[in-house]
Amino acid sequence: MDHFAYKDGVLHAEDVPMAAIAEAVGTPVYIYSRATLERHARVFREALAGLPRKHIAFAIKANPNLSVLRVLAREGYGADIVSGGEMQRALAAGMPAGDIVFSGVGKTRAELSAALEAGIGQFNIELEEEGAVLAEIAAAMGKTADAVLRVNPDVDAGTHAKISTGMKENKFGVAIDQAGGIFQRLCALPGLNLRGIATHIGSQLFDLAPLEAAYGKIGALMGELRAAGHTIDRIDLGGGLGVPYERTKVPPTPADYGAMVERATKGWDVTLYFEPGRVIVGNAGVLLTRVIWVKPGVIRPYVIVDAAMNDLARPAMYDAFHDFEAVAPTGERIVANIAGPVCESGDTFAMARDIDVVKTGDLGIFRTAGAYGATMASTYNSRALVPEVMVDGDQFAVVADRIMPEAIIAAERLPDFLKD
Ligand code: LLP
Repeated sequence: MDHFAYKDGVLHAEDVPMAAIAEAVGTPVYIYSRATLERHARVFREALAGLPRKHIAFAIKANPNLSVLRVLAREGYGADIVSGGEMQRALAAGMPAGDIVFSGVGKTRAELSAALEAGIGQFNIELEEEGAVLAEIAAAMGKTADAVLRVNPDVDAGTHAKISTGMKENKFGVAIDQAGGIFQRLCALPGLNLRGIATHIGSQLFDLAPLEAAYGKIGALMGELRAAGHTIDRIDLGGGLGVPYERTKVPPTPADYGAMVERATKGWDVTLYFEPGRVIVGNAGVLLTRVIWVKPGVIRPYVIVDAAMNDLARPAMYDAFHDFEAVAPTGERIVANIAGPVCESGDTFAMARDIDVVKTGDLGIFRTAGAYGATMASTYNSRALVPEVMVDGDQFAVVADRIMPEAIIAAERLPDFLKD
């Protein structure tokens, strides 16, 4: 459930009419609903209520906006980070360092050092050499790094190839059949406290069966490691739960997921870590856009909007579906294409879509844009970097400015050899 709904025929974000935001901030603009974020955070946490020990680390790659992180920090969420920059954001938003998990296949020495310095709670090691380097840096600093080994369970998550991570040809984690040996060698190193295993098989998952299969393999590995004399007190189950981009396609609920986890992890006697991203923020955000033209097409009309692939990359990158709705629908419908102004045919949000009739100057939204939306935006075609707004009841605030081309140009330099 989200708080983007029609009141008196016009679309609101909580109690704020979309048109008021367009008026004040312009378009395109991302709009987040605080109430929706809080609701999703609570629903996910309640779904895990039956588990004895757990820690939820929001995958901030899905939405690293400081205000979004602040809302989630207040809900008791930590962060799953994949870069030094994400660490800075998590800390700046007030998340305790101990609640931060550092994932990612390419952490640099500088990032590992900075994370140790900050005292983050867990490193998810992706390869043996990384573990050895982490141990060496930690020992040199007189510290011990709490860590888990990310294991690739070789399970097909059944999602888009670009967001699958748990098959053996993927770059993530160590192969499950090599995990025992790597664990054995790494846990002998001073500077490292290897406490368990992590896995994450992919994103936008609609089927719990591959997740359950992966968790089963992780449970079996945990048993082997314990039998070999290792203490295992943490298992990180990753993220991945899908969201309904299309209303007719409904993913498993957090409650379904929680029930599966309870079943799959019964008797494990560990603290379970979770790294949800999309399920928390996806439906808590929309992208508000204005129609520039309705261009008669040869086959069907093109609705040209002022948002483009640089603002919301998912349709161009993954052929992703984002629902489009007029802010003030007339009730009439039309089959049309929706595209942005960028000079690529890939800058198309929808083809042959049955949508509300819109005309030049009308406002519309792309739904479910709170995850992997603004954070994947660029300034391609020298467009401004899209701003972000958060709504709270009848108030709203700009939580990330529109960065104008002049500011971007100002960060560029002409070298001496090109001057005059
Ligand atoms: N943990 C790890 C280690 C991850 O790699 C990811 C996502 C997550 C957690 C969070 O997954 P989620 O709960 O959000 O599914 N840009 C793509 C999605 C990339 C996901 C990358 N990893 C998209 O727009 O669909």
